[in-house]
Amino acid sequence: MEKKRILTGDRPTGPLHLGHYVGTLKARLELQEQGNEVFILVADYHTLTRGISAEKTKEIKINTRELLLDYLAVGLDPKKITIYRQSDVPAVAELALLFGMLVTVPRLSRVPTLKEVMRDEKIENPSFGLLGYPVLQSADIALVKGELVPVGKDQSSHLEVAREIIHRFNSEFGEVFPEPEALIKGDVLPGTDGKAKMSKSLGNAIMLSDDEKTVKEKVMGMYTDPTRVHSTDPGHVEGNPVFAYLDAFGQDQTKVSEFKDRYQKGTVGDVELKEYLASVLNEFLAPIRTRRQEFSKAADLDKILEEGKNKVLPIAAETLKQARRAIGIE
Ligand code: TRP
Repeated sequence: MEKKRILTGDRPTGPLHLGHYVGTLKARLELQEQGNEVFILVADYHTLTRGISAEKTKEIKINTRELLLDYLAVGLDPKKITIYRQSDVPAVAELALLFGMLVTVPRLSRVPTLKEVMRDEKIENPSFGLLGYPVLQSADIALVKGELVPVGKDQSSHLEVAREIIHRFNSEFGEVFPEPEALIKGDVLPGTDGKAKMSKSLGNAIMLSDDEKTVKEKVMGMYTDPTRVHSTDPGHVEGNPVFAYLDAFGQDQTKVSEFKDRYQKGTVGDVELKEYLASVLNEFLAPIRTRRQEFSKAADLDKILEEGKNKVLPIAAETLKQARRAIGIE
């Protein structure tokens, strides 16, 4: 693959889980190892779009630390890629202001993720900031001239907005920004309760930072196949989250196939199966836990953010200068 400039990010809302790993972290690690120019953004401003308060900003600080530790623990490496905090690069706000002129309110009101947030949090009248969520995200991408944006499926509507805004800008003022492409590569991991998606807010997540005992407890309590009453009943593999996790994390897929076979024939009990899954997950998480421990003692997280900031600030300044020139302000 040709080397590309890649931008992606997360809101610092809490520790990451196995769903994040399967959905996006794994792809980021591959992009990093292929030697692409990867930027990872801690989108702290985005966290405020559902309401701003001093308490929230305090939480963001704590969560930013956790997020950075998760990044480092899975193997994202600030020596190879750039990790930075959105609010450290205020040029993004100016670009978002300009981008706001290139998209209508009804267009933003139709973005499905925003509609969901409004429904779930019973927001009747969205703030300007909430509607502007995808506009700010577009500015994040454009500011570093991101070409590829690895994200989960749920973010594709934001990428569409970004492409539309950037397309409009470029056709009006000349090619300043590349039109970013979404890279939707990861899978969606179901929750431990069998719901379609693992999510911290649904309480069905296994965190990358969970200890061995917690992982075992969560696995032993997992949803399996509700139609199977006795361990001698033939069971279903499809739609069974235990097997979804084994597919995603099992090192020994021959053994996983054997378990599937036995499950379908009714020759394995849930306890044996779940004990196996717990060991698989704990084996996967062991090195992540060790690295997390080491980094939380040794790594200077502020320094990582400082370096990221210093790397992005000049890029952002240059992009903004080009944008201002293109529209004739400068
Ligand atoms: N909206 C993204 C999410 O919630 C986070 C994000 C903010 C982002 N800015 C971005 C992702 C730019 C990709 C590119 O997951």
